[in-house]
Amino acid sequence: MASGKHFKYIVLGGGVSGGYAAREFAKQGVQPGELAIISKEAVAPYERPALSKAYLFPQSPARLPGFHVCVGSGGERLLPEWYSEKGIELILSTEIVKADLPSKTLTSAAGATFTYEILLIATGSSVIKLSDFGTQGADSNNILYLREIDDADNLYAAIQAKKGGKAVVVGGGYIGLELSAVLKMNDLDVTMVFPEPWCMPRLFTAEIAAFYESYYTNKGVKILKGTIAVGFDADANGDVTAVKLKDGSVLEADIVVVGVGGRPLTTLFKGQVAEEKGGIKTDAFFETSVPGVYAVGDVATFPMKIYNDERRVEHVDHSRKSAEQAVKAIKGKEAGSAVEEYDYLPYFYSRSFDLSWQFYGDNVGDAILFGDADPGSAKPKFGSYWVKDGKCVGAFLEGGSPDENAAIAKLARAQLPAASPDELKAAGLQFASKI
Ligand code: FDA
Ligand code: NAD
Repeated sequence: MASGKHFKYIVLGGGVSGGYAAREFAKQGVQPGELAIISKEAVAPYERPALSKAYLFPQSPARLPGFHVCVGSGGERLLPEWYSEKGIELILSTEIVKADLPSKTLTSAAGATFTYEILLIATGSSVIKLSDFGTQGADSNNILYLREIDDADNLYAAIQAKKGGKAVVVGGGYIGLELSAVLKMNDLDVTMVFPEPWCMPRLFTAEIAAFYESYYTNKGVKILKGTIAVGFDADANGDVTAVKLKDGSVLEADIVVVGVGGRPLTTLFKGQVAEEKGGIKTDAFFETSVPGVYAVGDVATFPMKIYNDERRVEHVDHSRKSAEQAVKAIKGKEAGSAVEEYDYLPYFYSRSFDLSWQFYGDNVGDAILFGDADPGSAKPKFGSYWVKDGKCVGAFLEGGSPDENAAIAKLARAQLPAASPDELKAAGLQFASKI
């Protein structure tokens, strides 16, 4: 059995939240040797969104150390040396396989033990795999997923090996849309397959989705809706050759990329902390039901003050802000100073091809589309407001400038009384810009 190590603070997970937590600890003040970050990945915390975008570009792809946190939010880039200069121990390539909260002990796959006084759980999500559903042939080679940097390296290698080949993308959510675009940019023949009537149904209305689907179709991406992959064929080497769909059709494939959702990594803590809506339940300071144990990022189900309910959010802005809030709360408690409750306004975004959208608030109630949503336009710019109980609660904008994006954020935060649907449609961005 390897020997044990003790730290005052342990952050479990060296992803986006882990990196932003380290920066906040350094800001608030930690002594050398007090803080450790333990991560399964072999690299220091980085901005995960780069993996589905610039990391896979055909020209000048992004590579580390270029996108270590906190460059994604315009902050300082924390290179591995930064952690050693601050006396923060980065314990990489180390998977924790057991967490015993009563004895405050974590155990790694190699048998090393780590004890702590305060634990910050930042384990993020894992991908849902088609083999989880028993889909026939789902373990064939070149059926790929994307979560961590090793996955991105595998995908990049497959793209290089299969230049000019056929790619099938299973799933019509974030990964589906971002990966279809980047595969197409790499000159693969791309077909997207998803079960819903339109893409990104978690957020998009049928009208918003129609724009992106037409834009993608114009770029040469084929889109098959209302069906799922039920099996895969492989050759004698075990390499995938075809995707069998539920409607009976068969698509040839050299690469399959699957993006059918994520699952928060909470299993280590099952039965030890209160859970809610699939995540670890926290208060407005991200402390769990176990005192001294905090959970942030994808795994946390926290009070969403603005809507008076509890939610889990799987997006990067929240992973950064929740980590900062938890560290402020930890240090505030030690100093006996008050910290304000987390008051988060949901913010999601995506980029693909020449497109870029942002969304703020809640996508509930009636959606009102405005602007130029013609995918053939030289520079399409359109958006949508969501109106509930007479108030504008959500706003989406494709192609907005920083000022315009700031305006829709302000509107969603203020939840101003909405004009009539016709007036909103006619006013378009002016409605947000004038507040
Ligand atoms: P995150 O997944 O970043 O980090 C978790 C870390 O914990 C990982 O390093 C993991 O290895 C480690 N870990 C887990 N279990 C462990 C264990 N048992 N032992 C040791 N280490 C362990 N969002 C957005 O708003 N805009 C965007 O454009 C994108 N783009 C995007 C692309 C891709 C490819 C993905 C996968 C995700 C996005 N996201 C996004 C979502 C966003 O990246 C995500 O919400 C945050 O990374 C969540 O941060 P966390 O720190 O919670 O988890
Ligand atoms: P998602 O939930 O966005 O989309 C999953 C899609 O797969 C949905 O359309 C779903 O209905 C479909 N699907 C489910 N089962 C299927 C099946 N059997 N066959 C075909 N399609 C099926 O999840 P994702 O796109 O996999 O993303 C994973 C995680 O990464 C999420 O947490 C997401 O928020 C995050 N992410 C975010 C961004 C961003 O914010 N820009 C970008 C990439 C990834």
